Amino acid sequence: MQEGNQKIKKIGVMTSGGDSPGMNPFIRAVVRASAAYGIKVLGVEGGFEGLIHGKFREMGVRDVGGILQRGGTILQTARSLEFREPSGQREAIRQINNAGMDAIIVAGGDGSLHGAQKLVQKGIPVVGVPASIDNDIYGTDMCIGVDTALNTIVDAIDKIRDTASSHNRAFLVETMGRESGYLAVQAGIITGAELVLIPENKTPPQQVAAAIEEAYRRGKTHAIIVVAEGYEPHTLELGAMIDAMDIGFTTRVTILGHIQRGGKPTAFDRMLATRFGVKAVEFLLAGQTNVMTGLNGREILPIPIDEVISNVKTISADYIQMAQILAR
Ligand code: F6P
Repeated sequence: MQEGNQKIKKIGVMTSGGDSPGMNPFIRAVVRASAAYGIKVLGVEGGFEGLIHGKFREMGVRDVGGILQRGGTILQTARSLEFREPSGQREAIRQINNAGMDAIIVAGGDGSLHGAQKLVQKGIPVVGVPASIDNDIYGTDMCIGVDTALNTIVDAIDKIRDTASSHNRAFLVETMGRESGYLAVQAGIITGAELVLIPENKTPPQQVAAAIEEAYRRGKTHAIIVVAEGYEPHTLELGAMIDAMDIGFTTRVTILGHIQRGGKPTAFDRMLATRFGVKAVEFLLAGQTNVMTGLNGREILPIPIDEVISNVKTISADYIQMAQILAR
């Protein structure tokens, strides 16, 4: 057993915001790496909500057995409105101090990292870990859960294409991504979609209809349009508009919804989550706090949380162009 930084004897670990496949391998890695370094771990149940209400449980190496392959999060998660209030933050700090936590490791998306920053401002050492299927967090190439979600989407679209071709239909398939078209663009490229609609690019419905009609003229037996959740007008509204137009195909809409957040994590997500979990503990031990674990190429770097939350991650223009070039 290695001895860790003397100042870090007990830490909290929590998952927050929308769940993402890989959160369990992350928890396992934090608990087991901490044990190896002689650090006690308290699991915070239900994200920031649990922090406010002192819902903590001691976690030993046996408590995280058999969870590597499970989707969701054994610690549960929440989107806490209470923590946004100064009174909620004050209560959380009181609970952290009462429990004797020297630091906290938080896995979650953009909102959770903003929450983490509130703790930092009140003097609590924090390491953030990016976990969101949207992959919209600045400072990391990939977040926990993205790869699994993408595989779920690809599997669904492959199936939709079968029925679309059989019926000569155009399908609008909605992926998650309230503010980011990352999943939609990636899925569009690797499923060979005819068109991808994302919140970052304004594509008017008339242009969508023209692209579908063009696919029909070229002799395609189907058209797959991948629509990110944040695109406007909403997918159902767009579907009704397109269906009312004469575009060759009849139209159907499939909203993939929360199935994208579930399921067992892929090999990639298990490894990423595990590496992030171990690194988060090691960053704390090395005195690197108030940072997020960021995947940069093959390396995991400590990225200041300040920098993460004050920047916006954009989708590479190359990918958007690739989706367009290949849809013929
Ligand atoms: O995790 C992020 C996200 O998947 C968004 O893409 C989506 O809009 C949102 O979560 C849905 O959240 P909820 O489960 O709270 O409705």
